[in-house]
Amino acid sequence: MFATVLLLLVALCAQGGNGEERGEEAQRPGHVTVVIVGGTGDLAKKYLWRGFFELYVNKVKGGNTFSFYGGGLSPADKGKPALFEILKALSCSKDVSQERCALLKEQFLRLTQYRELKTLENYQKLAKDIEQDLKQEGMTEAGRLFYLSVPAFAYADIADKINSSCRPTSGAWLRVVLEKPFGHDFRSAQVLASQLGGSLKDEEMYRIDHYLGKQVVAKILPFRKENKKFLDPIWNKHHIERVEIVLKETLDAKGRIAFYDQYGVIRDVLQNHLTEVMTLLSMKLPKNLSNSEEVLNNKLQIFRSLLPVGKKQAVVGQYQAYKTEVQQELNKTKDHVSITPTFAAVLAYIDDAQYEGIPILMISGKMLDERVGYARIVFKNDIFCVQNHNSVHCKPKQIVFYFGHGSLQYPAVLVSKNLFKPVLKDAEWKEVTEHKDVNVLGLPITDYYVHTPKVQREAYSELISHIFAGRKNSFISTENLLASWGLWTPLLSSLATSFPRIYPGGAENGDLLDICVKGKEISYNSEVVIISNDQMGGTSAKGFQVMQGKFRGTDMVSAWSEELVNRLAEDLQEAAEAAVRENGVFHLALSGGSSPLALFHRLALHHFSFPWRETHVWMVDERCVPLSEAESNFNTLHDHLLQHVRIPYYNIHPMPVQLNQRLCVEEDRGALLYENEIRALVNGSSFHFVLLGVGYDSHTASLFPGSKWDEHGEKLVVMTESPAKPHQRMSLTFSAINQARRVAVLVMGKGKHELVTQLSRVKDNSDKWPITGVKPASGTLVWYIDYDALLG
Ligand code: BG6
Repeated sequence: MFATVLLLLVALCAQGGNGEERGEEAQRPGHVTVVIVGGTGDLAKKYLWRGFFELYVNKVKGGNTFSFYGGGLSPADKGKPALFEILKALSCSKDVSQERCALLKEQFLRLTQYRELKTLENYQKLAKDIEQDLKQEGMTEAGRLFYLSVPAFAYADIADKINSSCRPTSGAWLRVVLEKPFGHDFRSAQVLASQLGGSLKDEEMYRIDHYLGKQVVAKILPFRKENKKFLDPIWNKHHIERVEIVLKETLDAKGRIAFYDQYGVIRDVLQNHLTEVMTLLSMKLPKNLSNSEEVLNNKLQIFRSLLPVGKKQAVVGQYQAYKTEVQQELNKTKDHVSITPTFAAVLAYIDDAQYEGIPILMISGKMLDERVGYARIVFKNDIFCVQNHNSVHCKPKQIVFYFGHGSLQYPAVLVSKNLFKPVLKDAEWKEVTEHKDVNVLGLPITDYYVHTPKVQREAYSELISHIFAGRKNSFISTENLLASWGLWTPLLSSLATSFPRIYPGGAENGDLLDICVKGKEISYNSEVVIISNDQMGGTSAKGFQVMQGKFRGTDMVSAWSEELVNRLAEDLQEAAEAAVRENGVFHLALSGGSSPLALFHRLALHHFSFPWRETHVWMVDERCVPLSEAESNFNTLHDHLLQHVRIPYYNIHPMPVQLNQRLCVEEDRGALLYENEIRALVNGSSFHFVLLGVGYDSHTASLFPGSKWDEHGEKLVVMTESPAKPHQRMSLTFSAINQARRVAVLVMGKGKHELVTQLSRVKDNSDKWPITGVKPASGTLVWYIDYDALLG
């Protein structure tokens, strides 16, 4: 019966509708089943059913037939009426006549059913019914679309059920749509990605960021391409003064505190929406904008060139009433304090030849004075007006991608008239020439060329049509997701104990949240000290002094990790300056691993007077993998330090692990080659500074427990075996390390506490505890141990 209705409806509809094709890939003809899991939830109610209804209206004459299911945890007697209430409220866009809309809505309602989707049996039954309907009507299946509008913790389980029971056969597609949050940091995103990866192929997953469906955001790349001839000369560090990507909201987080308090504004908005906009503005222009692979790859490249974002590149705030809302919604007592930020401003830099030095500000907050979203590119003022400052050519120059709301009230692309007259080759956009009297970001609207979409479309409707068309370029790939978390996670950890500035909310915020950019750092413009340790409930009552002491009979510096790294960076710069004064050159040997990353960032972002030009960088050890691979120590050093500093190419000395197109083969004599290079360039083979780490098994460099060091004799560089993969390594020997003038051992993190305790007790025994073999003959050894590793 259901299927008969369905066929009849298709015939009825085949004559009308705007059915406009939007240039997407060909859609396989046949029947499409749409299942919204969480079909009676908030998002489904607000956007999804509207989006799917619009899809139906537009596509029904295009050769596909449809059936829709709203899935929920409630039994049918509860779920059905709830779903019906939602569907009843659906309406069509203005371009569909009332009669046609009424007809289409009636059909849509008849094609839609509620389903209890809880157990595996429920999913199996759904699959069986879909197949039965297809068979009865002799229909070919085009595909199945599952939209998971449920909390992220349920994703893995549902994906598993879909995989085991609802996969279509006979070549039809399966598409599973997921909503953020995709994890809350790098690690959890990785876990979720690998769980989902067990059930779904990458091409089957559509991770939504609804900002990518906003018409103006989707226009960024086409705009850049169509106006290439104007933009090419000015889209660079010589012309752009700064970029601002802003989402201001007037609403609070009430009603969703249970979620929000775990996430905060950085995870909720900056990590995804604003980061996506930033990549669209800065990525290399793809040759073919509809080639998803090229678009996603170019996006990915940007993450590699971003300077790390640390605490000094962010300010956070929290609206005053938030605390009480948390206490109420989470059932907390009056003294409960949350430090989750509801406002954040973050400063990022892309460190490449095109954009180097351009401040990119990403700002978002709840309870601000107005609701508005935009990305604004402000160009440098290159005209000096001698007399008439009101002339058009004297005014500021900017391009604004205005997402909507605010003073303008509609989405638009605005270009200052003194820049160029833009081209928008899109029949769906129009130029606005009649204006209300408004100012947009400091300029009267008449100072801009303004373009806007002829018909405004909801972001979700737009993305739903892309999913239907199988266009993946406006979705988040696993690689992009992880790259974005890779950028944000270190900042989130460093802010984990920072107390946000409290702001009253709305117009009363005044200039409390104004931001000042100085060099590569930002701060609030006004000094307000609001909080004492008491008010913080002891969340961050750590002292910040650096402590000098002794460890294993030699000097030790200890502090909380951030201070410790700052101190090590200062000591390193001092040593470099002294060496350059004395010898005109500084030879530095650096280790791999994760501990030195913070040091590399510190050096790249704060030590602008470091004598890089006179510094030679050597490797303490290397894994036998190509240098271009993420596992390579040199690769880490390159990405986190070398590419950000002005160091001459010929001062960089990676270990030659790859020779003759093979890795670490004895007869290629890579170790000897490196040794000869050291002997030739480093006076007396004595490095000025060697930075070491220490592994959980107490290995240092790639000198692992259980080796016979005597066999190395006078050698400076040897091949060694690690118990962990990749096993083969190249390493400096004790004899090279112990000839250094200064050796620093950096040990950080709670995980190293047990090791530090053991090391404080054991005698020297380099076979068992390799780090104890580090004993500079005439140089100094200093341990840098953070409080977490020292005190546990
Ligand atoms: C959502 C965030 O992703 O985006 C919300 O979870 C935020 O906190 C919303 O309010 C903003 O979206 P829009 O489309 O209203 O700008």
